[in-house]
Amino acid sequence: MAPRGARRLETRKSVSIIAPAYNERENIWPLVTALDRALGDIAWELIVVDDDSPDRTHEVADACAREGWPVRCIRRLGRRGLSSAVVEGALASSADYLVVMDADLQHDEGAIPALLAALAGGADLAVASRHSPGGSVGDWNARRAGMSAVATRLCTAMLGARVSDPMSGFFALRRSLFLDCVYGLSQQGFKILLDIVAAAPRELKIADVPYVFRSREQGESKLDTLVVVEFLLMMVEKASAGLLGPRLMMFLGVGCCGLVWHLAVLRAVQALGANFLPAQIAATLAAMTLNFAMNNRLTYRAERLKGAPLLYGYVVFCAVCSLGAIANVSVASMVMSRDQNWPLAGLAGAAMSAVFNFEVASRLVWGLGQRRARAVRRRQATAMMSARARATTLRAC
Ligand code: GDD
Ligand code: MN
Repeated sequence: MAPRGARRLETRKSVSIIAPAYNERENIWPLVTALDRALGDIAWELIVVDDDSPDRTHEVADACAREGWPVRCIRRLGRRGLSSAVVEGALASSADYLVVMDADLQHDEGAIPALLAALAGGADLAVASRHSPGGSVGDWNARRAGMSAVATRLCTAMLGARVSDPMSGFFALRRSLFLDCVYGLSQQGFKILLDIVAAAPRELKIADVPYVFRSREQGESKLDTLVVVEFLLMMVEKASAGLLGPRLMMFLGVGCCGLVWHLAVLRAVQALGANFLPAQIAATLAAMTLNFAMNNRLTYRAERLKGAPLLYGYVVFCAVCSLGAIANVSVASMVMSRDQNWPLAGLAGAAMSAVFNFEVASRLVWGLGQRRARAVRRRQATAMMSARARATTLRAC
């Protein structure tokens, strides 16, 4: 039953525009007014998903909402990531259509009516494209244009994606299609469009709408080398049918750096006159410390630990790696006693400890934030329930 009278709030929107935002304070007001101009009488709302930006982007989004603009802000604490922000924003929508666009005005809001018209005309997915006739990347430097061209070619070759701009962060789709894909999304990196195409339950009818990518006036790009590495690792994951995930690959890469560092420290400490055992202990500690720091910065940067949890995480990481070493030796000796093949035994042991460390550390060290958030939510729910129970008792009195 629909709510009546004063209880009725005009919240029914046909389009939710999902804009991931990190340090976009200066861009929110201009974005809202630009959407208002471009969308005419379409019933739209803007959902800004802000990862607790240091510039307090959420305050500006809240100010827009207080002024009466159809703006909502989802503020995520302790997490980062463009794709996961889009997923969270889309899940908060109840509209028929979703438009995903950047919050920094680089995407031309003038293309939104054409994207929606393409959906109304039967397309499942309408992609605003910089590479179809009439579109352009604007004034990119040669490095960025080259990087994008290589990535685009790679996507088309590996995924067979029938999209002229598979790297686009600007597209529209029905919310029902998004919900059909949502459980299959990796939610990592910047490539939410590819993620959706890859997770779609059927072959999609995709329409291209050309647009010109604007240059950024305020703030700065967050697309750094690490995002590109993550993207390449995502391609490896697809090519390996999901066996080698980006995080596992990065964890293993970090492990290789740790190994080189281990050998260097071992040699240096021995050169200082120490015996093998103390030198090996020092090298092991040094390698674990480097691995922890690199994983915290790179592999788990979306859940990066800071302050006291960093110290706690380091101790747990060292404990996990020590157990990993026991797993390594046990598996290696088992293989050795069976096959008498030392390289195979060594490899099997190393693989065992790498996978063990990855699986356990992911959960125990970098899953901490999520567990703590769950604990806080549980405490809040308990507090709310007891407040409700108190209110019921008071009413009964
Ligand atoms: N919530 C959240 N969390 N938002 C983020 C994060 C994050 O960790 N990182 C970036 N964003 C937001 C930015 O604030 C911006 O609104 C949008 O995501 C795009 O980020 P930019 O850093 O501006 O990316 P870009 O302009 O360099 O990259 C563009 O081109 C790529 C392909 O070449 C974007 O359109 C990408 O979506 C696109 O893949
Ligand atoms: Mn941008």
